[in-house]
Amino acid sequence: MYDLILRRCRLQGRTELHDIAIEGARIAAIAAVVDGQGASEIDCGENLASAPFVESHIHLDSALSAGQPRFNESGTLFEGIQIWGERKGSLTREDVQARALKALELMAAHGVLFVRTHVDVTEPRLIALDALLELRDQVRDWTTVQVVAFPQDGIYSRPENEGLLEEALRRGADVVGGIPHYELTREDGVRSVVRVFELAEKYDRLIDIHCDEVDDEQSRFVEVMVAEAIKRGNGARVAASHTTAFGSYNDAYAYKLMGFLRREPINFIANPLINITLQGRMDTYPKRRGLTRVKELWQNGVNVSLGQDCIYDPWYILGTGNMLDVAHMTVHVAQMTGLQEIDACFDMVTVNGARTLQIDDYGLEVGKTANIVVHNAPDAFSAIRFRQPPRVVVSRGRVIAESPAAQPSLTIG
Ligand code: FE2
Repeated sequence: MYDLILRRCRLQGRTELHDIAIEGARIAAIAAVVDGQGASEIDCGENLASAPFVESHIHLDSALSAGQPRFNESGTLFEGIQIWGERKGSLTREDVQARALKALELMAAHGVLFVRTHVDVTEPRLIALDALLELRDQVRDWTTVQVVAFPQDGIYSRPENEGLLEEALRRGADVVGGIPHYELTREDGVRSVVRVFELAEKYDRLIDIHCDEVDDEQSRFVEVMVAEAIKRGNGARVAASHTTAFGSYNDAYAYKLMGFLRREPINFIANPLINITLQGRMDTYPKRRGLTRVKELWQNGVNVSLGQDCIYDPWYILGTGNMLDVAHMTVHVAQMTGLQEIDACFDMVTVNGARTLQIDDYGLEVGKTANIVVHNAPDAFSAIRFRQPPRVVVSRGRVIAESPAAQPSLTIG
């Protein structure tokens, strides 16, 4: 007897159907036919079962706050930062937690059970940080949240910011963040990257830096991150987020950087939904796509994962919580339309994200925690093509969401 059996699932890389049996919070058996019965059994109808989606990059402190106090009419990064500057003075713990929880629930219903959120730690009361650290622990039994201490206004742009960043780590942030391209000078930017690496070592934390999120082809802080990773040999624990300027670098420089990345690969996180709308705003025509070199990084064996970045906030008014939207946009903007390339985009919102977040207990294997998404699609390609909510979401062995396929229906006559 098992607690739950998912019958007739498709698994990536296998041709025949499989059953997945769950006991308590663990996967107990995976076989063509699992003998025995489950207290509960679900016929998965020959649909794909996979490990959950991983949201590698989101800002839960600002999620679901669009229009407060006003909407971003220009659509630029800078108006977004301005509006957030007006809003963040009125943040309360309850306000942050209510919006963040709603966003986490929205994502979980779409099969996202691992989330890395940035939180602005240049707000001197650290209200949002405390709110999200508390929420991270409150939701632990159904979703996993990693909190990045993110100095939105820069580490050296105001004298108190460096201390606030370190205080955020003392209070329990999981990851150290930075924003070197937004520091006042190139020298401050370089210094900020080095400081992030020092703090990560001191407090034994991961690194995730908003890096080169501009169209300026002279914004070259990824090279500083890679250089630090080469010196310290810690590339697997390092992520460079956005890196949109990488899309504007000349090919000779990009080629050189790819060579450095072969010496010590770091993780890259792209956010194509938002960056295709934010970047290139100062271009006339042709307008740039605002995406890092996702396809070339993937071709060079560098780990790339994807994030939504924003859901209905001052920077991006759309967003549904569905990582398949992000993969779908990547297929378009990165021109990854080959079948293998589309499968790679599915990996970028699942297994690659788990690698970036350094999650060991991830994957459909006996003995691992039963975090499973049964898609409303037979394979990764169809999942991205139709972007349906999942048929079943299992978290820690429990069914937490179920959605029948929402196919359009047509009646004529
Ligand atoms: Fe971001």
